[in-house]
Amino acid sequence: MELLILILYVLSTVTLLISLQLLIKSSKTSPKLPPGPVPLPVIGSLLKLGDKPHKSLAKLAKIYGPIMCLKLGRRTTVVISSPALAKEVLQKQDLAFSTRSIPNAVHAHSHNRYSTAWLPVADQWRSLRKALNSNIFSGSRLEASQNLRRQKVQELIEYVGKCCQEGVSVDIGSAAFKTSLNLLSNTVFSIDMADPTQDSVKQFRHLIWQSAVEIGKPNLVDYFPILEKIDPQGIRRRLTNHFGQILELFIQLINQRLELRRLGKSGAENDVIDILLNISETNGEINKTHIEHLCLDIFGAGTDTTSSSVEWAMAELLRSPETLKKAKAELEQTIGKGKPIEESDIPQLSYLQAIVKETMRLHPPAPLLVPRTVETNVEVCGYTVPQGAQVLVNAWAIGHDPSVWENPTSFMPERFLDLDIDVRGRDFELIPFGGGRRICPGLSLAIRVIPLMLGSLLNSFDWKLEGGIKPEELDMDDKFGLTLQKTQPLRVVPFPM
Ligand code: HEM
Repeated sequence: MELLILILYVLSTVTLLISLQLLIKSSKTSPKLPPGPVPLPVIGSLLKLGDKPHKSLAKLAKIYGPIMCLKLGRRTTVVISSPALAKEVLQKQDLAFSTRSIPNAVHAHSHNRYSTAWLPVADQWRSLRKALNSNIFSGSRLEASQNLRRQKVQELIEYVGKCCQEGVSVDIGSAAFKTSLNLLSNTVFSIDMADPTQDSVKQFRHLIWQSAVEIGKPNLVDYFPILEKIDPQGIRRRLTNHFGQILELFIQLINQRLELRRLGKSGAENDVIDILLNISETNGEINKTHIEHLCLDIFGAGTDTTSSSVEWAMAELLRSPETLKKAKAELEQTIGKGKPIEESDIPQLSYLQAIVKETMRLHPPAPLLVPRTVETNVEVCGYTVPQGAQVLVNAWAIGHDPSVWENPTSFMPERFLDLDIDVRGRDFELIPFGGGRRICPGLSLAIRVIPLMLGSLLNSFDWKLEGGIKPEELDMDDKFGLTLQKTQPLRVVPFPM
């Protein structure tokens, strides 16, 4: 008996020592993950995301801090929610965080293999970004395409003028979408894609918006890769359908252009599609499939983001009559009542610019930016972001943080009048376009078009909410996708000034 007790005693001591040794070893070697909620078995913290992940994650960040780690199914996700940490990830350690985390849905039509938005930072991505930057977004290209924007904004004002005469309301998001679409389609293909039969525009907008919803929606396949083949929520299947319809349209337009080139009848346009086709003939990195997917990127990322910013800005102004009055007063003093606005006027319109910034602070079109990942363990402020983790930067949470912004939920453009804060990716308190090498390439276009459209709408008409809705009753709820939309489209009635 005594021998048995002795053996048990020795065994348990040895076991205890080995366990202690293992514990010490593992605490030395295993990474120190950022804090976060204790995960449930199997599903982790998936249920905490809800249908508005930007808001749920902002709430969780109040508990766990500006860098937190969540286990979502099998996937580790690190969420960044402060300007200092956003700077760390998007600027100081930009290269380590510059690979995209690719949602399974984006494999539809192999978009991940051709798209500027999803390719890793390597030669193909560089060639595509260069093609975009030099042929659409460079200062000289944008100067040269001013006339086009002037003309398309004038068409928007004429359309609203017609609604004004007929006494009917305007769906601001939809009208601004049509303008953004025609702006881009003229830049790329030299045609108006939004034709007067409004239905085709509605259909295209629906496809773009539904694609953003499907990409942004939490997808079980991303958290349990074993489900890939089953696609239980049907997200990849639906995105394949949406992408298919959009790509089909671009393929037709590109083929028509190739046929014209073959017959020697093209060249006069010298638009983006011609330039891209020229590049593809000399640069092995870009082929016809890349061009089709580049069109999907340009129209997918550039239409709804721009038009929903105009819609949110108008909604905030109609909720705040004093601010609307001040905006109109500035336009009247600087431009003259009812006169058309030029892009060169925008630097003088500081209140209008402040309105655009304040709108993007409260309603960043991409609330979680576009997800990133890390290819090796990366140290951030004493924590380890483990290899393969998805990294989300919550621009919405930063814009609503009371330790960064006074009265963060109030729409107060005045706050920007004395603040040297810009949206160009240098000030991490306000990062609607992201930052670092993957910053939105469309930024330079968007910051011309949004104030131009908004200022023109304000300086040409007086506005009232449809159906006698009082300003304080306006529904400001948002719908989450890769981009953030107004749940209830804004309908307003224009009046002559
Ligand atoms: C209000 C307007 C817009 C907003 C708020 C916006 C926002 C963003 C954001 C947050 C990203 C991700 C940046 C990051 O990861 O740090 C992005 C990427 C991108 N945007 Fe925009 N965008 C806008 C307009 C446009 C326009 C007009 C275009 C093109 C016509 C465009 C094309 C792209 C592309 C191609 C990418 C992927 C870049 C890459 O991954 O290398 N965007 N945008």
